[in-house]
Amino acid sequence: MKKTNHVNVKEMNFDQLFKQISPEEIGDNVFTLVGKNLVITAGKEDHYNSMTSSLGGLGILFRKPTTWCILRADRYTLEIIQKEQTYTLSYFPNEYKEQILFLGSKSGRDSEKMKEVDLTSVQTPSGDMSFKEARLIIECKLTEITTANPNDFYSQEAKDWINEAYKEANDYRKLVFGEITHVWVKK
Ligand SMILES: Cc1cc2nc3c(=O)[nH]c(=O)nc-3n(C[C@H](O)[C@H](O)[C@H](O)COP(=O)(O)O)c2cc1C
Repeated sequence: MKKTNHVNVKEMNFDQLFKQISPEEIGDNVFTLVGKNLVITAGKEDHYNSMTSSLGGLGILFRKPTTWCILRADRYTLEIIQKEQTYTLSYFPNEYKEQILFLGSKSGRDSEKMKEVDLTSVQTPSGDMSFKEARLIIECKLTEITTANPNDFYSQEAKDWINEAYKEANDYRKLVFGEITHVWVKK
């Protein structure tokens, strides 16, 4: 049964699979939505890259529906977000856990993970990339990248977390804000 579903999804196009809703119509509870089965994708059809993410949020910033993520400075996906200035957040049903973890297991900078992953890429009408297996796609336009400074954090745990990332990436973690431009849900 599951297999048949996968095949059907692969054969359908974006319009057959997804319908547009407004940010206000997102039915998920933010605390169960954020950080679970989330893949961030940046780039266009000829070259795109995805990574798993578990941190972030949704809300209103400067009167605009906005998402935010915290990305380590050396993520290849972040490099493409900065270049293209648009990206998607794709939320998946639990059954794709393995594929989602795979996208978080190695960098696309020095691997062919986008060719290897068992998901079907799809272009949104605006040309951003996501996957046919996603259940919810949030398209974002980059609005702000802020560098986390450990001195601005008031818990030792957070300071340590920010400092630790510096050691690995030679830069502090980045808080990435994006205005929500489109929201798509599975039909
Ligand atoms: C469950 C899970 C959650 C993750 N959350 C984040 C995150 O919020 N921020 C981050 O920078 N990396 C996070 N990662 C790590 C990246 O997904 C991972 O380093 C990935 O390989 C980066 O890929 P890229 O260099 O191709 O962009 C997470 C990994 C997993 C498995």
